[in-house]
Amino acid sequence: MEKSDKVRNYRPATLAVRSGQLRGSEQEHSEPIYTTSSFVFDSAEQAAARFSYEEDGNVYSRFTNPTVRVFEQRLAALEGGEACVGTASGMSAMLTICLAGLSAGDHIVSSRSIFGASYVLLDQVLSKYGINVSFVDLRDLDAWSESLRSNTKMVFFETPTNPLTEIGDIEAISDLAHKHNPDIKVVVDNCFCTPVLQRPLEFGADVIMHSATKFIDGQGRCVGGAIVGDEEFVGNKVFGFMRTAGPSMSPFNAWVFAKGLETMPLRVNQASDNAMHIAQWLAEQGEVEAVHYPGLETHPQYDLARSQQSKAGAVVSFALKGGQAAAWKLINNTEMLSITANLGDTRTTITHPYTTTHARWADEQKLSAGISTGLIRLAVGLEDVSDILDDISL
Ligand SMILES: Cc1ncc(COP(=O)(O)O)c(C=O)c1O
Repeated sequence: MEKSDKVRNYRPATLAVRSGQLRGSEQEHSEPIYTTSSFVFDSAEQAAARFSYEEDGNVYSRFTNPTVRVFEQRLAALEGGEACVGTASGMSAMLTICLAGLSAGDHIVSSRSIFGASYVLLDQVLSKYGINVSFVDLRDLDAWSESLRSNTKMVFFETPTNPLTEIGDIEAISDLAHKHNPDIKVVVDNCFCTPVLQRPLEFGADVIMHSATKFIDGQGRCVGGAIVGDEEFVGNKVFGFMRTAGPSMSPFNAWVFAKGLETMPLRVNQASDNAMHIAQWLAEQGEVEAVHYPGLETHPQYDLARSQQSKAGAVVSFALKGGQAAAWKLINNTEMLSITANLGDTRTTITHPYTTTHARWADEQKLSAGISTGLIRLAVGLEDVSDILDDISL
């Protein structure tokens, strides 16, 4: 067997550790961080060949940096994509996908239940440049079909959603979009599951975006993002936009994320197991009105979640019967949990979506979407699960 065949056959845990490796002249075991803005050429001829892509190699760190490339190759291997481009943040990944793939007059169909800044970017920023958006219920396949137009170029969603863990059917949404027009790009924000739990490209999606800030870093240190997909769109169009517009990932952050990917399978699986345990416990508590977690058989899309995710993920939301007063009391009574809206950290975080992440929504909008005053979101981390349960004891 050729070495390249063996590499192609590596399983995810091995790819997380071994893919995209870089070893310099010092034979170091851990990848070096190349903190250089530019690279030197042997001759004017070589400089010209590098600038015109006739010769592969580094030019300038806005678009070619060896440490960033390690991260990109590792994440591409884990997602099963041909190409990956690292970005300065999750939001710049989303902006880059849209500006690389869309023009004035184009139309996007997006799930309504997406991260707040993603919603604002689609609704208020892109609309200023003549790109129109229709928002639909993630779970309503008829609404997806009915919203597609002749000028629709992209569909966008997250699954599971934040904070209610609704599930989008990746295969069905990709199918209906591609039947309408094979050129539509189906974009999935895979930040909540990561490729450890869900690989949307295998279900027909075209492009994956990530906030690397979350589980990829995994320890709440750096802000970054990434785009994964095929050579034609991500390797050429997205990369070309990056070269010109420059929302680039820094080499230091790329190094943190590349090292984060090595332990991501362990972290994400453990956090998901902890979350499952907590969700089961919450479901038995009398003060709890509802638990939203796709790993519970009571979740309305339990079967769909099982068909596309290997585990249910680290985010659990639950509503208390006592409304906001009870929710704030529980949050204020915690001693160990971090009261913050971030997620994907080793540390469990606790949030009251009604008055924080969703505070800018009108009350009726929140209530009709299921964001009740008693709702609490836990983004479960890696502490001992008994300590987490002790801290949220009702
Ligand atoms: C699902 C999701 N997508 C995108 C983002 C944006 O990522 P960033 O904060 O890295 O720009 C976030 C951030 O919380 C998120 O939760």
